[in-house]
Amino acid sequence: MNTRLANQVAWISGAASGMGEAIARLFAKEGAAVVLVDVQTAKGLAIAEQIRAESGRAIFIECDVSNEAAVRVSIEQTVKEFGGLQTIVNCAGIVQVKLLHELAEADWDKLMGINVKAIFLSIKHGIAYLKKNPRSYVINIGSVGSFIGQSSTPAYTASKGAVMMLSKSIALDYAADGVRCNCVCPGITDTPMLREHLNMNKDPEAALQNRLRRVPMGVRLTAQDIAKAVLYFSCEDSAGVTGTSLVVDGGYLTAAEWEHPGKTKFMEPL
Ligand SMILES: NC(=O)c1ccc[n+]([C@@H]2O[C@H](COP(=O)([O-])OP(=O)(O)OC[C@H]3O[C@@H](n4cnc5c(N)ncnc54)[C@H](O)[C@@H]3O)[C@@H](O)[C@H]2O)c1
Repeated sequence: MNTRLANQVAWISGAASGMGEAIARLFAKEGAAVVLVDVQTAKGLAIAEQIRAESGRAIFIECDVSNEAAVRVSIEQTVKEFGGLQTIVNCAGIVQVKLLHELAEADWDKLMGINVKAIFLSIKHGIAYLKKNPRSYVINIGSVGSFIGQSSTPAYTASKGAVMMLSKSIALDYAADGVRCNCVCPGITDTPMLREHLNMNKDPEAALQNRLRRVPMGVRLTAQDIAKAVLYFSCEDSAGVTGTSLVVDGGYLTAAEWEHPGKTKFMEPL
């Protein structure tokens, strides 16, 4: 077992699927005790069980991260179970494909509650525990939508812009307490969320290939690619880095216009 995160206790939201699951599995392999927080109970319990079967330390806590009482209780339970809290990863998120005039007020509030308010709640209830450690880490998952507009997803795009700026505020306000906060901004990453989004098209694979033509590397990212970036921010490999946003997007944001030539070396396995 690797030990980059030995003795670390990490609370990870959205850990029953996609990137959150990959982060929880990687963190556990690196020696952290992981608390998987999600609303998908059966999946979360099964992943925690698998991690334990591989000699990792993991528990699942059912928690709607937009609910203040639930977040508070999940953090208290984390500390009770593992004796502290050093890392908060805010990965839970939802997307809505609706124009602004089609959105109900409740849609907007739900998305902002999960994508943005949850970060506020996790810090509000977790900061006292983070402050007890010489070093602590907060990693929030933004998006390429933290930097550029994306069509037909106005609430999502607004929320991801907010995630990036909120990460800077957290970095500033708690730096004196030994807490570093950074944002990881993924591009097109193959997770259930992406699949759900693509399935709105008649031919999901064609829609994906079409989107990938704008990506210089020409490939979709994996949840593990994102997990590695999160790992970097949750240990002393990134000592000295706070308030920043790391874009992991295969080059998507690099050019205003781009069409890759049909084949790239990244399409071949290493
Ligand atoms: N997949 C992509 O291409 C992509 C790109 C950029 C950013 N992101 C962001 O990455 C993060 C992870 O997304 P993913 O692609 O792994 O999606 P995913 O749908 O696989 O995982 C999201 C998880 O969040 C959980 N969740 C949703 N609402 C919740 C709530 N109220 N309380 C607790 N958990 C809740 C879901 O149950 C799910 O397990 C999200 O913040 C997303 O916006 C994804």
